[in-house]
Amino acid sequence: MNQAFIQDVDNGLSASPKQLLSKYFYDEIGDALFVKIMNMPEYYLTNCEYEIFTQQAKDIINAFDVADKPLDLIELGAGDGTKTIELLKELQGKKDFTYMPIDISQNALDLLSARLAKEVPDINVKPLQGDYFSVLGDIQSSDNCKVILFLGSNIGNMLDHNARRFINQLSDRMSPKDKLLLGVDLKKDPSIILPAYNDAQGITKTFNLNLLARINKELGGNFDIEQFDHRPRYNEEEGRAESYIESLADQDVTIEATGKTYHFDKGERIHMEISRKYDNDTVNDIISETGLYIKQKFTDSKNYYADFLLEKE
Ligand code: TRP
Repeated sequence: MNQAFIQDVDNGLSASPKQLLSKYFYDEIGDALFVKIMNMPEYYLTNCEYEIFTQQAKDIINAFDVADKPLDLIELGAGDGTKTIELLKELQGKKDFTYMPIDISQNALDLLSARLAKEVPDINVKPLQGDYFSVLGDIQSSDNCKVILFLGSNIGNMLDHNARRFINQLSDRMSPKDKLLLGVDLKKDPSIILPAYNDAQGITKTFNLNLLARINKELGGNFDIEQFDHRPRYNEEEGRAESYIESLADQDVTIEATGKTYHFDKGERIHMEISRKYDNDTVNDIISETGLYIKQKFTDSKNYYADFLLEKE
């Protein structure tokens, strides 16, 4: 059994307020639900980034500015690769490059590899399984130019100080002129943002509650899933969507793997995830003192979303 998972669940449910780490969303069911989220009508983020990648692929690749040197194209949290394939198609046959998708889920990497073999058969692919932090060490310094892709507004799932530290760690592994393509959701009217985290069909709800089901399955928990509900909100002051699971009753939950019982008050919330929204100032703020600067910004036609190309000085 996964020691880190047990420890993180115990720490999170013993804390006040309670929390669970979003990296544990992604078991096989979680992966599939997440693909569904990305295809929901309310979830505009993926469509916007896909539009940027289909309509501006040439411009983005030109901006990588790698001349004739071989390129390592490293993607953090590659998922199902729908957006990146657009870039790969454009690069295929034109540049000497290796695509290195990194994902926490081996299942997601296997699906991605099969898809790449079909859609872009002539490229070099080197998948790496792990969470961002554990595979950072695998991003070896080679003579190749590096472009790191960190898309899907995944940076927004970190608090600003963690985002800053993370980008700093990436920057430490980059050479001058290496790039980081950072996809971020932009600040906008909450009436557009909130439904992306609170869809009418309840997929996001199932996605969040699936983590309780996973704890039941893998750690011998006895969560009564019906006694919990998904409560998203948009915190305008902080500029972020926040997801909670709320306990609908006074109840106790026991988890065999931790050997403990956790009490939930009626109305008590487990903090699940934040999704921060950005503008130029907030991006500049999280990259200040990381040795990176904004080289170019690509936005979709609605101006909902942006991919910032950051260059190492
Ligand atoms: N990073 C994306 C976002 O914040 C995708 C994402 C991560 C997400 N976890 C999620 C979307 C949970 C919906 C629900 O939007």
